[in-house]
Amino acid sequence: MHMVETDQVQRVVLRKVYDSRGNPTVEAEITTRGGKVGRASSPSGASRGTHEVVPFPKEGVDAGIERTRERLVPRITGAALGGQSVFDATLHEIDGTEDFSVLGGNTATALSVAYAAATAEARDEPLWKAITDDPDVLPSPPALVGNVMNGGVHAVGGPAIQEFIAFVEAPTARAEVEAAVAVHREVGRRLRELLPKTALGKGDEGGWVAPLPDEQALEILAGACRTVGEERADRKVRVRPGLDLAASELLRDGHYHYRDRKITPDEQGEFVARLATTYDLAYIEDPLDQEDFERFAELTRRVGKGRLIVGDDLYTTSVGRLQQGIDRSASNAILIKVNQVGTLTDTLEASRLARRSGWATVTSHRSGETPDGWLAHVALALGSRGLKCGVLGGERIAKLNELVRIAGDA
Ligand code: PGA
Ligand code: ZN
Repeated sequence: MHMVETDQVQRVVLRKVYDSRGNPTVEAEITTRGGKVGRASSPSGASRGTHEVVPFPKEGVDAGIERTRERLVPRITGAALGGQSVFDATLHEIDGTEDFSVLGGNTATALSVAYAAATAEARDEPLWKAITDDPDVLPSPPALVGNVMNGGVHAVGGPAIQEFIAFVEAPTARAEVEAAVAVHREVGRRLRELLPKTALGKGDEGGWVAPLPDEQALEILAGACRTVGEERADRKVRVRPGLDLAASELLRDGHYHYRDRKITPDEQGEFVARLATTYDLAYIEDPLDQEDFERFAELTRRVGKGRLIVGDDLYTTSVGRLQQGIDRSASNAILIKVNQVGTLTDTLEASRLARRSGWATVTSHRSGETPDGWLAHVALALGSRGLKCGVLGGERIAKLNELVRIAGDA
C-alpha cells in the first residue's frame, strides 16, 4: 500500500531543450514542497503516424511553452502529488483539443512524466512504481528490440525499410543488452567484410547505414543474429531478427516503393509473409500502410503465430484505433509511444486494453531522442513484452543503462 502523499507541486519550470537531431523539444521540471525534483523531456518522431497528437502547436515550440506557462502552470501549482489521472485530465482540459494542438503533445508528455517522477521522488521510490497499476510486483524485464541497421527516413543512402532489428530475450536485462550490442558489432563486421571500400554510416537511431537493397541487408542481420545467438545459447540467450517497415512511408500512388522496384499492396503482403518465414522474423512492425487494417489482419492470420505483428502508425497508442484493430484481429501487439497521445494516463489506458485482449505491448523510443532514461521505467511499469530503444548512441544507451539499474540482474 502506498502512503498518502502530503507533498505538493511547488514550482514548475518549462524549458526548450534539444533532441538527438538538434531539433527543439520541451523539458519539464517539477519541484515539490518537500524539495524533491522530477524532470523529463520529450522525444520527437520523423515517421509520425497521421493519427498521433501533434508534438508542438503550429506556431512552434516556444508558443506551446508560453501558453502552458500562462494557462496551466497556475492551475497545477499547489496540486497534490500522486494523482496522475487528475493531473493528466487537467492537461487535456486546459488544452481543449483532441490532438493537443494548443499546448503541444510534447509539452504535455514532458509534464506528465515529470509529474510521475516528482511523485516517485516524494515517495523515495523508483519511477516505474509511480506509473504502474501494480506497484508491489517487480514485473519481468522486457525483451530488447534493438535497431542495428537504419534505412528509410532515418538514414541517407540505406535500404528503404526503416529498421533492421535484433529481438533479444535473455534471463537478465544485462545479458540482453550485451547480446544486442554484440549483434550491432557483428553486423558492422559483416558490412565491412562485404563492402571493404565503402564508407559506412550510422542513422538517426544509431544503427548502421549501408547502400544495400532491403533483402541483402536482412540477410546480414539474420546472419549476425544467428552468430550471436549460437555463441550465447548455453546462457539461454535467444536472438532473432525483426523489421520495422514503416510502410506508410513507402506508399506513394498506390504502390510500395523500394530502392529498385515498386509493388502493389497485395504484393507487399506476400513479400512480408515470405520474409517472415524465410528469415524466421520474431518481430514485424508496420508491414502495411496505417489505414490497411484488412491486410494487417490477413498477414497476422498467415504468419502471426510465434512472432509479434506490431502496429505503430496503425494505432498511434490510441485506444480508439486499438479497439478497431482488436475488433478486426489486425495484429497481436501494439507499439506504445507516450508522446503519440501526450500523457501517461492515456498510455496506460491503451496498454490495459491491449493486455485485456491478450495482446503484447512494446514500449518505444522515437528517432529523435533525449538522453533521459524514463522510457525504461514505462516499459517496466506497463509489463511490456518488449522495450524498443535502439542499441548504440548516448540517447539510446541511456535507456538501456537505466534498465540495467532498475532490473539489470533480476
Ligand atoms: P519515429 O519512428 O520516431 O521517427 O516516428 C520510429 C518508428 O517508426 O518506430
Ligand atoms: Zn515504427
